[in-house]
Amino acid sequence: MKRKILITGGAGFIGSHVVRLFVNKYPEYQVINLDALTYAGNLENLLDVKDKPNYTFEKGDITDEAFIDQLFEQYQFDGVIHLAAESHVDRSIMDPLAFIKTNVLGTAVLLNACKRLWKDNTEGKRFYHVSTDEVYGSLGEEGLFTEKTAYDPRSPYSASKASSDHFVMAYYHTYHLPVVMSNCSNNYGSHHFPEKLIPLAIYNIRNNKPVPVYGKGENIRDWLWVDDHARAIDTIFHQGRTGETYNIGGINEWKNIDLIRLLCTIMDKKLGRTPGTSAQLITFVKDRAGHDLRYAIDATKLNQELGWQPSLQFEEGLEKTVDWYLANEEWLQHVTSGAYQHYYEQQYQTR
Ligand code: NAD
Ligand code: DAU
Repeated sequence: MKRKILITGGAGFIGSHVVRLFVNKYPEYQVINLDALTYAGNLENLLDVKDKPNYTFEKGDITDEAFIDQLFEQYQFDGVIHLAAESHVDRSIMDPLAFIKTNVLGTAVLLNACKRLWKDNTEGKRFYHVSTDEVYGSLGEEGLFTEKTAYDPRSPYSASKASSDHFVMAYYHTYHLPVVMSNCSNNYGSHHFPEKLIPLAIYNIRNNKPVPVYGKGENIRDWLWVDDHARAIDTIFHQGRTGETYNIGGINEWKNIDLIRLLCTIMDKKLGRTPGTSAQLITFVKDRAGHDLRYAIDATKLNQELGWQPSLQFEEGLEKTVDWYLANEEWLQHVTSGAYQHYYEQQYQTR
């Protein structure tokens, strides 16, 4: 019988890359993608795998306990890779409760369902929680986040992710649930929702709109190619030690303003504009409340224990990302017009 793997949030940015990797790499698994299709969930991210025999989509909310219990009963999952979340810091500042509901309660509902299903036999079972480096707070100019860095979340988003991380470890210590976890830095690549810095800037430059840079653009992020993150998740899911957490990062720190200037240079080249044209769109705007200054990851543990390392140089990855957005204007047009939200009704409900 096929091993049944539940991936939550598989219609989102990172989740869709993880689903694609697992469906293509592991024909011996049945991959079930559970997603509520919030504004961030887009089934058009998965057009290339939607008809594969080892792929199933289920629409549902991880906070709906009765639904989750029924789903676990129906599929008898062997493994869970949990990515579903509210993920945007700016939205968390506007509406913290939505983040507490999905990220904290939703994670606890899934942990409970696993505990119930696997109570008699945890052999070969695994709950993988995908988390963020933001739980560690903000760095000064020096130092890196390690797995031993104390938690110090500072936004409603990172507080909700930190809380979910603590529940995951509490289920490991209290109930011996076989968990593993990772905390990753900023991802970039294709299918990224254009509310986040890089896809928003690409969209705005393409359309000659202002590119908003918060504050003075001095904040630093450590950027990782999304497929390198998906590869790390695959490695940790299969080889990571139970009860452990692994930091994942790009060893690739960029000040926001330097990143945006590089992006402008790439866009000028790709769009055949005179050098310097796109940079004129850069607009400094009011800073994000509580804006963390710097994130940077020490991924030594993952590298030394499991041999993972990033594969792509940032300049090359950023160029590939721009190429993808320019070649997929229909995807972007559907996202910005809202048309993507009708895909589920059209493709699934009329069957
Ligand atoms: P995303 O916002 O693109 O996707 C989230 C997905 O979860 C969407 O498909 C959405 O529909 C789904 N979802 C939201 N609420 C749900 C609910 N209640 N029930 C079921 N599905 C629900 O997010 P992303 O950027 O792909 O991030 C995925 C995970 O990785 C998150 O847990 C995030 O915290 C973590 N993470 C993200 C980054 C990053 O740079 N994007 C870095 C580190 C960790
Ligand atoms: O570090 C991992 C985290 O990275 C993930 O856990 C989050 O889910 C993900 O959204 C991301 O969070 P950030 O807040 O770092 O990403 P965002 O793209 O929103 O912002 C990146 C930086 O750019 C940050 O310093 C804020 C700034 N920014 C962002 C936007 C949207 C701007 O200057 N202008 C903008 O318009």
